[in-house]
Amino acid sequence: MPKIAALDHIAIACPDLDVALAFWQQQLGLTCSHVEELPARGIKVAFLPVGDTRIELVAPLHDKSEVSKFLADRGGGIHHIALRTPTVDADVQEMADKGARIAQPPSPGAHDCRVAFVHPKSTGGVLLELSTPPANATH
Ligand code: CO
Repeated sequence: MPKIAALDHIAIACPDLDVALAFWQQQLGLTCSHVEELPARGIKVAFLPVGDTRIELVAPLHDKSEVSKFLADRGGGIHHIALRTPTVDADVQEMADKGARIAQPPSPGAHDCRVAFVHPKSTGGVLLELSTPPANATH
């Protein structure tokens, strides 16, 4: 059974990262703590801490990115929520064995985390990320 440690972040897909960042920073007063390009996924992400969790803004680097279809279908919106666990690989294997549909097996993510995604069909309708921070992480 996963040992879920925290609501790590809520991710919002947006067509333009700079436009979205301007809103979250200038109108809500949040501070962007980290921006990172993930070329293997075709995305650029920005993190804004809020209390014990974070907002993750996700924008495409090109029209074949992992958020491109979502943006084309919906224009933007909550893309996934992420729960932190110390053992993503074992968790995903166990969940798959119990019948969960894994949308993406564990692989490298932002902040050098190891992340996997569980399909909305298994979670009640939301794409679920499970994320394990690197051993030296500060959060
Ligand atoms: Co995420």
